[in-house]
Amino acid sequence: MEREKIYNETKLVSGNDKNGIKDCAEHLASGEVVAFPTETVYGLGANAFDAEAVGRIFAAKGRPSDNPLICHVGDKDLIKDIVSEITPLAQKLIDAFMPGPITVIMKKADAIPSAVTAGLGTVGVRMPSDPVANEFLKACKVPVAAPSANLSGTPSPTNARSVMEDMEGYIYAVIDGGDSVFGIESTVVDATSEKPVILRPGAVTKADIEACANGDAAYAGTLEAGQTPKAPGMKYRHYAPFANVEIMDMPKNAKLIGDEADDAALSEVKKPDFAEMSEDDRQALVDIASPFIHREKELLQANPFARVGVFAGVEVKALYEKLGDKILLAHTEFYEYGNALDVRAAAHSLFEGLRHLDSQEVDVILAQGLTGGGMATAYMNRLGKAAGKKGELLPDMPKPERPARAELPLEAFKDTFTVQILFADDDNTCLSQACEAIMTGLIEKNSSYDMLVSRDIGCEIYCESAGITASDGASCDPGMIKAVSEVLGRNISHCRSTRIDPALYDSSDLIITVRDEHAFEIIKAFPQIKDKVFSLSSFAASCGLVFKDAGGRTVSISIPDPRGENEATYMHTVKALKAWLEMLFPYLIKSMGAERA
Ligand code: TXA
Ligand code: MG
Repeated sequence: MEREKIYNETKLVSGNDKNGIKDCAEHLASGEVVAFPTETVYGLGANAFDAEAVGRIFAAKGRPSDNPLICHVGDKDLIKDIVSEITPLAQKLIDAFMPGPITVIMKKADAIPSAVTAGLGTVGVRMPSDPVANEFLKACKVPVAAPSANLSGTPSPTNARSVMEDMEGYIYAVIDGGDSVFGIESTVVDATSEKPVILRPGAVTKADIEACANGDAAYAGTLEAGQTPKAPGMKYRHYAPFANVEIMDMPKNAKLIGDEADDAALSEVKKPDFAEMSEDDRQALVDIASPFIHREKELLQANPFARVGVFAGVEVKALYEKLGDKILLAHTEFYEYGNALDVRAAAHSLFEGLRHLDSQEVDVILAQGLTGGGMATAYMNRLGKAAGKKGELLPDMPKPERPARAELPLEAFKDTFTVQILFADDDNTCLSQACEAIMTGLIEKNSSYDMLVSRDIGCEIYCESAGITASDGASCDPGMIKAVSEVLGRNISHCRSTRIDPALYDSSDLIITVRDEHAFEIIKAFPQIKDKVFSLSSFAASCGLVFKDAGGRTVSISIPDPRGENEATYMHTVKALKAWLEMLFPYLIKSMGAERA
């Protein structure tokens, strides 16, 4: 489905801004699309009585329109306008769990257009408990049809920034209500007959529903023979990040935290203290972490360049660090959700974790599997869909492209932070100038405001070059000017050399030389800054990166000075530098304390 930008700017409205929320509600009632927070995930809402407005949701999501939407209300009185029948079971569920993370399927009223229900005779009704959602939905005065606010096929958003990433320019506004507490979508229960059928597991568990209904509940997958499952939309790829996801089994005898709890409370996060730990606790920890470590070693053996994302508890990262394998650590991006066995915490962070690791452009995500009967059912349902389901794409569905990242202006962050990388050589007319040009291109491509120091602090990266023996103001080597222009399309003919002085060393967070001897010279002259001076090859080694050629032989980064050589050698030099810097880019920004947004 073609997506078309229709707004120059999508408003970001604070959850504390009463007037802003009222304005959003008015725009929604008159046909526009607004994203709003809920306790499960963010929703993409439109007036459920207005078929045209509902069509705009599908356009913004880029999703085909044969998946039914849930109607959200801020007031139980509105339910009677949406449905034509409330069965006794539906009434019990409404009384027991609304407002809360549940969607109840009932027979639809004529007033609800078939665009909302994808032609079904039933409709899902949900009343969120999130206070901002509640205020907004009340102000709308109409039922709000809303799917999760992600681009079709990507993980559901659990904060306003994730919504902006997918929706900037496509919708009127995003209301920011902070992090969604549960982090995965509502339990969907069909209550059109006597027995509750769970179409999608969520934070309201099977046990909760059975207690309320005073009888058995079934999962849609276990319907009796002859009945057709009622959860449409199953044929679409859901929740999938762009990296491959693999599920790491939890130890058989481990006990989950929060599986049957009925609120969103997370356990207090405890970093393991190896010195104080009993032998049993130590073993338990090794049992949790070792599937990750073994699998990652296998992956690195198959592909020494692989970057691996780990979605796991704090214990797992602690064990990686305790092991101290530099190569393993250099190839790993962690997203820690809390205590490894806390299933509420894992669910809370699952989609955000997948999105984050994806943004770090890892090749594979290893994620903690957690098996149980309550919240764990919902968690594993979502994780299962994110993992390995790529083969289940319908043959005529292309694999989604990684979408271009929305450009968040630096002002969107509370604070910004600047870091500087300096490329150094002898006279700053050739190799270091080429590096500066390449790096500047990489920073622009990844856009400086795409970098973060933490999730709240934006990071601006500056790049400079200078020479140890440079005579200030010399122009670049003509061969290099030509090669940079041909290979990179950048003009460096106006660049002039700068001699390194202590102030420049001081203001640089990382100093990189192409040739080893230049790094040695700088360190010899200024031993106090040795921790931030590297040659390309010593930097790669410090990250634990090992390069092999097609024949399996270890390759070191060695780039000769092209001065005095022919045109082809200059071109080859720029191409080689470009390839190395592109490869090292994520490691360079990480070592300066930044990461991709
Ligand atoms: O927590 C949630 O439910 C979030 C927030 C925004 O409220 N919404 C959400 O919507 O997850 P969506 O569209 O991503 O998922 C709705 C699910 C789909 O699996 C859909 O097939 C099912 O509910 N559904 C909706 N109406 C249905 C109906 N009439 N019969 C059967 N399944 C239905
Ligand atoms: Mg969804």
